[in-house]
Amino acid sequence: MAEPVQTPQASFKPRIFSGIQPSGGLTLGNYLGALKRFVEKQNEGIETIYCMVDMHAITVWQDPERLRHQTREGAAAFIAAGIDPARSILFNQSQVTAHVELAWIFNCVARMGWMSRMTQWKDKTAGKNAEAASLGLFAYPALMAADILAYHATMVPVGEDQKQHLELTRDIAIKFNNDYKVDYFPVVEPLIEGAATRVMSLRDGTKKMSKSDASDQSRINLTDDADMIAAKIRKAKTDPEPLPDSPEGLKDRPEARNLVNIYAALAGHSVEQVIRDFAGAQFGTFKPALADLAVAKLSPITTEMNRLMQDPAEIDRILGRGAEQADAIARPILEKTYEIMGMVRSR
Ligand code: AMP
Ligand code: TRP
Repeated sequence: MAEPVQTPQASFKPRIFSGIQPSGGLTLGNYLGALKRFVEKQNEGIETIYCMVDMHAITVWQDPERLRHQTREGAAAFIAAGIDPARSILFNQSQVTAHVELAWIFNCVARMGWMSRMTQWKDKTAGKNAEAASLGLFAYPALMAADILAYHATMVPVGEDQKQHLELTRDIAIKFNNDYKVDYFPVVEPLIEGAATRVMSLRDGTKKMSKSDASDQSRINLTDDADMIAAKIRKAKTDPEPLPDSPEGLKDRPEARNLVNIYAALAGHSVEQVIRDFAGAQFGTFKPALADLAVAKLSPITTEMNRLMQDPAEIDRILGRGAEQADAIARPILEKTYEIMGMVRSR
């Protein structure tokens, strides 16, 4: 990593940026780790910019029809969950070219060593032929840094899995500022908060719940209906013990801990409170309570998502308008970057 030299930060105004890949349908992990918190930030009155990162999705091959569908469906999920396009900027990445332009610049700032230490890159290529992975997959975190820094965003709500990528974003900002003797890019603050910053697979409490897992039983999709949600929770892997009477009792019980965390995040309660309410309960009692809660919280979102998906042209209009607003912020920031670096800008 770069030397942790802090530049005297100019005052950047509070601005939130975050993104989700349209590489599959959204999961309960995306909802609790990202979407739900995006809505909370919007409602706190901070300036919020949210993006379907389609350029990230294509670092592994995507079927064009599915990519189009998933981008619209992701946008519909944002709106159904409470993102208001009149209060947040909502768009898809490929419509604002500043992202890839700044990403190229950051490809020239980031070092090979930094990129090769990214655990997500290592995980995604582990046991596979790394030589056959795309160059884009390797460079992916530099594009993520560009997404954020193109807006001089100061805060980034994400799940736990993105922590290292945000450290890289900070390193890139610091190195750029040092290399050009400026105080131009903010050193961003990761916002990794709440009971569900890492929602685990329902089949394996040591693996992250993921839209790309081969088993559909491992995750709850935002498109699942009430019966599917209930069935998946009923069949979720657990151990034979009842729930403990203190959070420490969950320590070596990854599956039990995961279900309790999910309950806490959905209910908006602390883990301590959930444990207090269910101390000594068997999973035969806890799972139906969790299923009811999950259905109550997710079903209205699914219904609204389906309704919005009836009118894809309206979704496209929202994304187009969001892209124009995003471009109006990012373009001048990028122009200034070119100037700092010595590019002749004469058109
Ligand atoms: P992705 O689906 O990889 O584009 O992730 C979009 C956002 O959802 C990021 O902020 C992730 O950290 C978050 N996220 C994805 N999966 C999970 C999970 N299982 N638990 C918590 N957050 C998650
Ligand atoms: N890499 C993130 C993920 O897979 C998605 C992402 C892309 C992102 N650009 C971002 C998240 C910028 C936050 C900010 O989850």
